[in-house]
Amino acid sequence: MINIIKPNDQSHFDLILTSYFVSLMKNSKQTMKKILTILIAMTLFWSCAPDKPTNQEEFPDQPAAKSAVESQIMDPTKGIGAVKNVTLKTPLEQERVSRGIAIYEMKCSACHRLDEKRVVGPGWKDITKTRKPEWIMNMVTNVDVMLEQDAEAQKLLELCLTRMPNQNVSIGDARDVLEYMRQNDGEK
Ligand code: HEC
Repeated sequence: MINIIKPNDQSHFDLILTSYFVSLMKNSKQTMKKILTILIAMTLFWSCAPDKPTNQEEFPDQPAAKSAVESQIMDPTKGIGAVKNVTLKTPLEQERVSRGIAIYEMKCSACHRLDEKRVVGPGWKDITKTRKPEWIMNMVTNVDVMLEQDAEAQKLLELCLTRMPNQNVSIGDARDVLEYMRQNDGEK
């Protein structure tokens, strides 16, 4: 039944269309011009008007691009901050180690021990084996942001219940302390 009705409907529709065009052809040139103008206007309108579906299709691109950048910045193993890539040398750079010792004694030893025992902050033993050098240096030079945004730093804060203070440690100084941490972890 449905198969029979459909062609009938279609032919009925075709009939209306044909008669519509025939009547159009019969009309004066002016009417044709008017219709043409309206058609052009409509085409222009639809092509210029910002239609929602297209916009929605464009939106997913933006978060995708953004999250690619974000994932680079927020690489959880490297932490958040200016330190993106650290090159470690073997054997250790002894000058850095001795500067690192001095900085440690002046600015860090009140809260960090060199063994695994936590005092105010965690002990440093094996820190260079569990954390990336970039993470350690970002933690030292960008501690406020790290404590706010880095999941690992936040876990430490929950554990220690004290915020490590920002001591304006330069990236160079942080690199020296890192070298001292490597020595403390048995590297030569
Ligand atoms: C007043 C105490 C205090 C001082 C001083 C301090 N820290 Fe911290 N540090 C902490 C605390 C507490 C944490 C744990 C995170 C938190 O709760 O803020 C921490 C965490 C860290 C961590 C991460 C430890 C881990 O197990 O991953 C590093 C690295 C670190 N500190 C380096 C330093 C360096 C380098 C200095 C010296 C330039 C320093 N800290 C000085 C209190 C301190």
